[in-house]
Amino acid sequence: MSFGLGHGRALDPGLGVVGVGPEELPPLPDTILEDPESGRVDPRAWFERPERPFEIEIGSGKGAFLIQQGALEPETNFLGIEWAGEFYAYAADRVRRRREADASLDNIRLLCADASEFLRWRCPAGIVRVIHLYFSDPWPKARHHKKRVIQDRFLGEAFRVLEPGGELRVVTDHDGLWAWDVEHFDRWTASPPPDPSVGGVTSGHPAFTRHAFDAPESAGESELVGTNFERKFRREGRSFHATVLRRFAPPGASTT
Ligand SMILES: C[S@@+](CC[C@H](N)C(=O)[O-])C[C@H]1O[C@@H](n2cnc3c(N)ncnc32)[C@H](O)[C@@H]1O
Repeated sequence: MSFGLGHGRALDPGLGVVGVGPEELPPLPDTILEDPESGRVDPRAWFERPERPFEIEIGSGKGAFLIQQGALEPETNFLGIEWAGEFYAYAADRVRRRREADASLDNIRLLCADASEFLRWRCPAGIVRVIHLYFSDPWPKARHHKKRVIQDRFLGEAFRVLEPGGELRVVTDHDGLWAWDVEHFDRWTASPPPDPSVGGVTSGHPAFTRHAFDAPESAGESELVGTNFERKFRREGRSFHATVLRRFAPPGASTT
């Protein structure tokens, strides 16, 4: 199904420059099940300046957050992960055209993939400063709840890939999804966490603490983030839920 996002123009994700190409993310090796580390690829190396802090947006849609915040924060590298091919291509094409026009946005890349799978099988531990998850699909039917991004395994993997003190930032308009999220957050902000083997959480401390959500610099007045879905839902008069989960940092650890 096409959403017609290109309005008749072919979308060019700029593979290898903006869109992550197959040379940068080769297929998983056959050894992946016995050796999960064998599939790891460091996504920081996909950026011109790999030493910059690294953040991920899951479900970047048309790319509004990436482009707005990426322009204001050029010293941070942002990877948008979007599994819907047309939305991925639309956002990557926008970034590519801006980049070609004024040489900006060399700090934004887009990957077409399932973000949960990417975190689980590809992403090395302790490298992500922030995971942004804005207006994630609510999957309201009970038989589809397994497709929601927030799951116990996902939170374990988020714990593994985040730097000490790193953050998972979540905003949604959907009351049912929010209740589900909070149920999971409650487990992962308690001690011990539900499954310490996932993500390598050591016992004796909660994996995360919860904090109030503060809007990024790119958000407009009275916005939480300023994504396309937030703007659409605001026009419809919906209300929102937002929170920050901060990863445990051992005493003395250097934090973000
Ligand atoms: C409701 S849209 C929100 C888009 C954008 N964040 C916004 O606020 O405008 C949710 C997006 O997440 C994407 N998505 C859902 N689950 C995903 C996953 N596991 N990995 C990558 N993308 C995902 C969907 O394809 C969709 O584009």
